[in-house]
Amino acid sequence: MPKRILVALDTTDTAQAVDLCTSLEGLVGGVKLGLEFVSANGPDGVRAVTDTGQPLFLDLKFHDIPNTVAAAVRSVVPLQPTILNVHASGGTAMMEAARDAARETAREHGVPAPMTIAVTVLTSLDDADLAAVGQRNPAESQAVRLAELAKDAGLDGVVCSPKEILAIRAACGPDFKLIVPGIRPLWSVTGDQKRFSSPAAAIKDGADYLVIGRPITAAENPADAARRIGDELEEL
Ligand code: C5P
Repeated sequence: MPKRILVALDTTDTAQAVDLCTSLEGLVGGVKLGLEFVSANGPDGVRAVTDTGQPLFLDLKFHDIPNTVAAAVRSVVPLQPTILNVHASGGTAMMEAARDAARETAREHGVPAPMTIAVTVLTSLDDADLAAVGQRNPAESQAVRLAELAKDAGLDGVVCSPKEILAIRAACGPDFKLIVPGIRPLWSVTGDQKRFSSPAAAIKDGADYLVIGRPITAAENPADAARRIGDELEEL
């Protein structure tokens, strides 16, 4: 069950990221690096993190024309992420191009193909924000619609909020991977997350992986916090 925990390393500091990876060895299933870290530190920073042996979710949310997204995917697959992602709103052809590029590049490099997943609707957008960009569907039904589109494009799963797990699981079936941020153990402070679930509730609802940042990274002892969450999941 600790394997289900992916720790969000939301920092620009490579040394801090590497220290966290080392102290969390065996206690989590991997770490997530996003635009903040990669923009600051580039591929060398990513390699410093993967050199610790922690599996990597590379959260760069690619969104561009299919040719450019495929090229970007080809550039990052040699970094051997376990998971990478694109925006589902980039459309079917873009998602198919990302999936094919991930598989082909992995084959060429003799490395395992990463799981290619999609971001649906950013949870920072509410129904009014969507309407302002011409999108009349409420956020949740749009998220389900984009998840179905991602599945039909052959992607492996989506990132979704805890509140969307049941609807997307029902629409996309048992094998579609759901990677879920917005997780707060009942004993931690909530920070700026407004719609959150506990780790156990999210797993019970059907999450495959939990993305957890500050409850672990900002804890006085990150290893203890990760161990505690892992233990709680073992009890399910
Ligand atoms: O510290 P915290 O647990 O809130 O970090 C959650 C991580 O998941 C951050 O990297 C955040 O950007 C990301 N995320 C999120 N909510 C979403 C999508 C991504 O919190 N809907």
